[in-house]
Amino acid sequence: MTEQFFKEAKEELQKSLVKKGHPFRYFTLATTGVESIARLRTVVLRQITSDFKLIFYTDKRSKKVTHIKENSNASLLFYHPKLMLQLKIEGTATIVTNQKVIKTYWSGIQPNSRKDYITQQAPGSTIKDPSTVDYLDEENHFCMVEIEPFKVEYLKLKRPNHLRLRFSKNQDNWEGEFLVP
Ligand SMILES: Cc1cc2nc3c(=O)[nH]c(=O)nc-3n(C[C@H](O)[C@H](O)[C@H](O)COP(=O)(O)O)c2cc1C
Repeated sequence: MTEQFFKEAKEELQKSLVKKGHPFRYFTLATTGVESIARLRTVVLRQITSDFKLIFYTDKRSKKVTHIKENSNASLLFYHPKLMLQLKIEGTATIVTNQKVIKTYWSGIQPNSRKDYITQQAPGSTIKDPSTVDYLDEENHFCMVEIEPFKVEYLKLKRPNHLRLRFSKNQDNWEGEFLVP
């Protein structure tokens, strides 16, 4: 009875990869590292693997990468305003190290978008003038992060009853249960 909602959640996530303007294209990623305060930021959902791992790109010098190396637990938040659907995903984040895979994805990035991963100074460094950022010619700091979910919480606000479900991964199976919204 709960499977249809898990299917819907996955389908909406998949749609965001191909449908322009889909709100799940951007999500909020929370990490903590060794710190006691969560750090949140928006990232772009780039890919979902066949075994339901979510991939985003970043600069390997960014704080989120430091955090993930310190503590691989990550929370992801998606919100679809038209459907009034919120997905909260908890998972294990890993930095992709397979050089062949990284090369393939890197070659698919448009030259202008590559700028996000080739600043001379690390992201978050202080600068005097935002128009004078220097870029590297040869090397890059492109990095892919893969998140393997272990919990998905689905919440849809609707009348007469809101719908809230929790899906937990047990071995390779997802088990769903309804929750009081
Ligand atoms: C619409 C939007 C999309 C973004 N997409 C990404 C992204 O895919 N990867 C990324 O590293 N940062 C992305 N950012 C920037 C992050 O939100 C964040 O400011 C930056 O990565 C620094 O985060 P950190 O210091 O916590 O690592 C995006 C920001 C916005 C506003």
